[in-house]
Amino acid sequence: MNTLLITGAAGIVGTALRPYLRQHYRLRLLDRRPVEGLAEGETALVGDLTDAAFVEQAVHGCQAVLHLACAHGTEIAFTATLEPNYHATLYLLEAAQRHGVQRFVFTSSHHVLGQYRTDAAPVFDDMPPAPDSYYALSKVFGEAACAAWSLRYNLGTWVIRIGNADAQVSDARRLRLWTSARDLAQLVRIGLEHPEVKHEVVYGVSDCPRALFSNARARALGYRPQDNAAEHLAPGFLSYEAMAAETSGRDYIGGAYAGAPLAPLLEPKA
Ligand SMILES: NC(=O)c1ccc[n+]([C@@H]2O[C@H](COP(=O)([O-])OP(=O)(O)OC[C@H]3O[C@@H](n4cnc5c(N)ncnc54)[C@H](O)[C@@H]3O)[C@@H](O)[C@H]2O)c1
Repeated sequence: MNTLLITGAAGIVGTALRPYLRQHYRLRLLDRRPVEGLAEGETALVGDLTDAAFVEQAVHGCQAVLHLACAHGTEIAFTATLEPNYHATLYLLEAAQRHGVQRFVFTSSHHVLGQYRTDAAPVFDDMPPAPDSYYALSKVFGEAACAAWSLRYNLGTWVIRIGNADAQVSDARRLRLWTSARDLAQLVRIGLEHPEVKHEVVYGVSDCPRALFSNARARALGYRPQDNAAEHLAPGFLSYEAMAAETSGRDYIGGAYAGAPLAPLLEPKA
């Protein structure tokens, strides 16, 4: 059984995926905070991905990487994304190349298309990136880096643009792009094991009513979602009408991210 390094393993997505993935791989769970409740076949590694030497040590002996860790937030400053999202992703890709890693799964986000209005196209799978934040801009960089490492170094890279991975669906926008942990785990496993994967971009979404993404490429590679977003509504689910147009960003793929200010790099002169 292969060893899979999961970065950001203590977070929401890592915690939700572990029970599905540890049945199939030895898991090396990396985070800068402690990872709780280790099960058989799981080991933990505490450290920061912005330390290149630590990344080198973390990747050694792994056959695959699932890169979840990142800095995020609607109004995150560009400079706050530089080390954790740009440098750390390159440290990981470089280490993966040096250590003969076979597959690299990068979790991107629907926010790379977040600045589009939801009525701008029937589905958005192949639209050019329109990042809604400095967080999303760093995901566009990560996706491009995966393509470069795949073609240059023959590393199999699998980009998943995750929709919304909360346990339940909280509003009408998320209803169109939600994923269950079970479906996301299925998608991760296709990326890790499908023999045709060189470099692919797919969407981390379950079956969703009025889906914003057809996810045709994932389906062509065997993805069959088991869960339907409409059957997982949260108790306080907000209908489209109940969402505030201005503050919730209900008409944009990225929701509130699309309307939030981008922190300027330089303060304007008085
Ligand atoms: N949760 C969602 O709905 C959602 C939606 C779209 C995309 N994603 C993507 O999925 C991935 C995981 O998201 P999440 O919701 O679990 O995030 P999260 O914030 O819950 O977890 C991220 C984890 O990464 C760790 N981390 C951050 N920087 C680190 C560093 N420099 N070194 C070591 N560890 C570091 C944090 O400690 C944290 O435990 C992210 O890449 C995110 O962009 C998530």
